[in-house]
Amino acid sequence: MTTDVISNISITKADKSRISEVDFTDIKFGKVFSDHMFVADYKNGEWGNLQILPYGKIEFAPSMVALHYGQALFEGMKAYKNDAGEILLFRPEENWKRMNRSAERLCMAEVPHDVFMNGLTELLRIDNNWIPTTEGSALYIRPFLFASEEFLGVKPATEYKFIIFTAPVGAYYSEPVKVKVERHFTRAAEGGVGYAKAAGNYAAALYPAMKAQQDGFHQLVWTDAKEHKYIEEAGTMNIMFVIDGVLITPSLEKKTTLAGITRDSVLTIAKDLGMEVQERPVSVDEVILAHERGQLQDAFGCGTAANIAYIKSIYCNGKEYDLIPVKDREYSTRFAYTLDDIKRGKGKDTHGWVYKV
Ligand code: PLP
Ligand code: COI
Repeated sequence: MTTDVISNISITKADKSRISEVDFTDIKFGKVFSDHMFVADYKNGEWGNLQILPYGKIEFAPSMVALHYGQALFEGMKAYKNDAGEILLFRPEENWKRMNRSAERLCMAEVPHDVFMNGLTELLRIDNNWIPTTEGSALYIRPFLFASEEFLGVKPATEYKFIIFTAPVGAYYSEPVKVKVERHFTRAAEGGVGYAKAAGNYAAALYPAMKAQQDGFHQLVWTDAKEHKYIEEAGTMNIMFVIDGVLITPSLEKKTTLAGITRDSVLTIAKDLGMEVQERPVSVDEVILAHERGQLQDAFGCGTAANIAYIKSIYCNGKEYDLIPVKDREYSTRFAYTLDDIKRGKGKDTHGWVYKV
């Protein structure tokens, strides 16, 4: 191993890269991890011990707070390469900001901008040959933060670990998704942590999602906790509909939905294209009625992992509604291509979203 220091980060490289073991023509989501990881520690009120290490196991104590009281959160982003081979990130500072909004809600230490950005960029430089360039693929980046203190009482921890590792990935969904509207279980309630990317939110969603999968659905559409009448989001994606040429998506003001960076980008692209955009409560009944009247022109989920995922059918009120064929989805297709082109440095980046490493 060789050790170096850049931007206060001590760098220890792996003796041998594992990249030759990877079949880049058939990358599954989340099964393969790149050679290195970035690690930082928070202790005595400050961040330090910044390191890049070979990706691998870390030690922890059984009393580590994160395992007991769930002070754990994560982010998700992707890196791409342009035709010149430069590394591109898409709006990475939005992930940093959202991570710290999540940290605030979970009473965790916030990660400073330079720790996040320097750790991320140095890691990508070192593992840059892990960024796949085949269509639909990217290097998924997983920054995460957890309470590493050894302690048993319930109180905010005083020690944290921030880690970033990466994984070359292909498509998250291999086909258009069949969704079920969930009207019994709840993902998030007003006053809760729905807007945070808290690890516990994902654990709480597993059981209802598993039940839906057993019934043949890919994903759930969450509805509001009070009445189960209004749509919130779909699994790990925000959700959008086009009704009579208007792009409609659930608003964020109740803080029960994750403020997706893809969501914000699609809304901006739609406005740039001259489309009317509405962020407001969207009821299940409204969507089904629009479908029955032939006014529902598109329905899709959007998120970092999934990109734009066409919604093929919606199950609710004991009935499965087959939506318009995917080949006729001019809106979501256009958003998908526009966004992908910007991310890969092919489209015009009019909003300064692309960050060159
Ligand atoms: N909603 C949830 C619950 C998610 O996990 C994600 C994925 O990060 C999103 C929405 C979409 O957010 P983004 O577009 O920032 O990836
Ligand atoms: C993302 O899109 O980054 C997500 O959070 C999805 C992930 C849970 C696989």
